[in-house]
Amino acid sequence: MSTEEKIANSTSVASYQHARQVSERLHADIALNPSRYRMLTGDRPTGHLHIGHYFGSLLNRVALQNQGIESWILVADYQVITDRDGTGPIQERAYSLVTDYLAAGIDPEKSTIFTHSAVPALNQLMLPFLSLVTDAELRRNPTVKSELEATEGRPLSGLMLTYPVHQAADILFCKANIVPVGKDQLPHLEQTRVIAQRFDKRYGRPEGSDSPIFPAPQALLSESDTILGLDGTKMSKSRGNTIELRMSADETAKKIKKAVTDSDRHITYDPINRPEVSNLLTIGALASNSTPETLADEIGDGGAGTLKKVVTEALNEFLAPLREKRSELEKNTDYIHTILSEGIERANEQADKTLTEVRDAMHMTY
Ligand code: TRP
Repeated sequence: MSTEEKIANSTSVASYQHARQVSERLHADIALNPSRYRMLTGDRPTGHLHIGHYFGSLLNRVALQNQGIESWILVADYQVITDRDGTGPIQERAYSLVTDYLAAGIDPEKSTIFTHSAVPALNQLMLPFLSLVTDAELRRNPTVKSELEATEGRPLSGLMLTYPVHQAADILFCKANIVPVGKDQLPHLEQTRVIAQRFDKRYGRPEGSDSPIFPAPQALLSESDTILGLDGTKMSKSRGNTIELRMSADETAKKIKKAVTDSDRHITYDPINRPEVSNLLTIGALASNSTPETLADEIGDGGAGTLKKVVTEALNEFLAPLREKRSELEKNTDYIHTILSEGIERANEQADKTLTEVRDAMHMTY
């Protein structure tokens, strides 16, 4: 069983359905009352963003930002060392992530992009937060649990065990109340809510305030279905089955040419029995604002060759403006550095403010 399957199995169907409902209600209310919401989300800088990230989350973030939601976008660099022995080319990767964000439409005037390693007060929240969780709770977290099983006797690092708490600090330092994430992150959100509530119960509120220091954040699940990699398994860089945003049109064509399909020349949308063909149809539909069924009808008996040609053209046309913007941005490293520095500055101001409130509540002001 894959890690994702284990996570999916252990996240109970009931709690997933509940999260889905909450998320749908949130989507509706956000449109009406954008000023009530603050969003935080982010990515580990482990590689370049691909179309799975784009259709699964970036589009949604940009839409929220453009609805007027105050947005915080995190480059989770410390999280890279939860399951790796070193940081690798992390600086390059962080800048590349910022470039992907900007090319995809994150607007630095409206959204704050920052690396959490550069925000000391955020990291300091980890200390009181760690006192509010138990090791049993952390070992039960599905991601931690499957890592624990996957280590096959190798030691589990303290950071791996406690990173859900660090992630709570990411979310709570800026008092975000919505967190756009995939369903694998739902247990982390639950842990974050527990931490927010326990902090309130144990330490109370700043003098004269009747609301908790930390709001309990909700997950905002993406409305579009996740797309698979070109081999029909989960899209992930390590499997080499992705189409990265920064790839050229030619590279994209080559990748799609090698995609797995089946031998039935009649193209149909049938995700259960024809997952690979259906996935290509989904990608083509997302890129051309169509539906997979319509695309399938249009291709008819054209076979996998036509399908791939249609998807390649749709995707390359769709991504062309983003890619053009990306290559412009790539030439302007000073600009990318400035955007990140400004984001880090804003994140520090916010984190310092929150830490002051925390210390006040804990009577640790000297
Ligand atoms: N865990 C997320 C991932 O692997 C990245 C992340 C870190 C994050 N901190 C976060 C996401 C806080 C949402 C909120 O993609």
